[in-house]
Amino acid sequence: MHKSDTPRTYRVKSFGCQMNVYDGERMAELLAEQGITPAPEGEDADLVVLNTCHIREKAAEKVYSDIGRLVKAGEEAGRKPMIAVAGCVAQAEGEEIMARAPAVSMVVGPQAYHRLPEMIAQAASGKRATDTDMPEDAKFAALPKRRKVGPTAFLTIQEGCDKFCTYCVVPYTRGAEISRPFSDLLREAASLVEAGAREITLLGQNVNAWTGEDVTGRELGFDGLVRAMAALPDLQRIRYTTSHPNDVTEGMIAMHGEVDKLMPYLHLPVQSGSDRVLKAMNRSHTAESYLKLLERFREARPDIALSGDFIVGFPGETEAEFEETLALVDAVGYAQAFSFKYSARPGTPAATMDGHVPMAVMDERLQRLQAHLNRDQLAFNQASVGKTCDVLVERKGKKPGQWLGKSPWLQSVFFEGEAAIGDMVRASLEEAGPNSLRGEVLEKVSA
Ligand code: SAH
Ligand code: SF4
Ligand code: F3S
Repeated sequence: MHKSDTPRTYRVKSFGCQMNVYDGERMAELLAEQGITPAPEGEDADLVVLNTCHIREKAAEKVYSDIGRLVKAGEEAGRKPMIAVAGCVAQAEGEEIMARAPAVSMVVGPQAYHRLPEMIAQAASGKRATDTDMPEDAKFAALPKRRKVGPTAFLTIQEGCDKFCTYCVVPYTRGAEISRPFSDLLREAASLVEAGAREITLLGQNVNAWTGEDVTGRELGFDGLVRAMAALPDLQRIRYTTSHPNDVTEGMIAMHGEVDKLMPYLHLPVQSGSDRVLKAMNRSHTAESYLKLLERFREARPDIALSGDFIVGFPGETEAEFEETLALVDAVGYAQAFSFKYSARPGTPAATMDGHVPMAVMDERLQRLQAHLNRDQLAFNQASVGKTCDVLVERKGKKPGQWLGKSPWLQSVFFEGEAAIGDMVRASLEEAGPNSLRGEVLEKVSA
């Protein structure tokens, strides 16, 4: 590898889940602290960080096509960008990337990106650098303070996964479950609010597995953390994702009826409606125990919007088992959901199971499932028409004078009128489509 200049501009491209978005923001802050500035829109960056996702085959393959594109664009412009591969593909396939893609200077895992500055210096001196260590909790302590953010912000409170669902790479790419310390989280939340955030979404691969101790040493569960965050004066809304059915506690259900700032929204993936498939997935809950949990959440907060994740075509899934998933969907009436075709991931137990479902069958099942989910999403939006609710303004709409924000139930609401990003306005919901609602502003609640 050639020596190259220390980069002056950067671009971070994040793929995958919201935790990657959070990591991408933190990497950007770290680079900015080094005096590296964001590359202006439309211009090539000296340093490109590809913050990758390994969850499905398509997501993982993207990194190689992106590297190819960067190299080609660099050749055409007569320059060589410094390329760093970060995120879950880096963790899972670091060595392979280094072997397959000579244009890559750095491979850095999700637990090691606080070391980017040293790695950049090494790469600039002509030596490629790899760091996929998982030092416990070192990363967050080494990161700079939060910068100015928009009205909504992500905050990772928990990382990793000990659940080992048989299809999933996350326990391997993100390591064991760890909870960030209570006081660090409250400090970071306060600095986000100070920097302009009005809504914070708490993140974790299993966010509700969070545990910690408050300042007096009292043990706290996830609900204790949410209650403590709700005491931050200028924070108006709290959300969280993704939670796991097995980590749901009484306190977590109860908080939905008691904490005003906590939004009425729950993303609780179930994956399948068939107990045989759930068992093969190692989900350790049944369709019935899952439905019972949802009932409890609805008792605590009757208007709660429910969301979930689904996988169709898990190895061995029969037509009858797939129909059990449809029946579960019909029983719940989700406000929103994410559905995927099963993707065999190297190293996971499911990849070597019998009965892989043909792609055409998976395609057909996904379409049928999505028809049910889309129907329910539209029905949920339509049932909101006539309601009045607060909308947190996040950005300008496509048309002049138009604004876009979120309802408490995470629906996109657009409206026309006087407003600014970060305003909370009260709106009446007038019309519903599959993906958004039209509102009319009644008054400004706060700016
Ligand atoms: N920790 C979270 C989410 C993990 S990944 C949870 O357990 O709920 C997000 C979603 O991707 C999963 O919920 C699952 O629906 C999907 N997923 C994970 N591995 C997959 C695979 N191998 N093929 C298809 N979908 C997958
Ligand atoms: Fe993956 Fe299961 Fe862990 Fe979620 S709970 S991250 S699906 S192993
Ligand atoms: Fe993807 Fe890693 Fe998130 S595999 S979904 S970026 S935890």
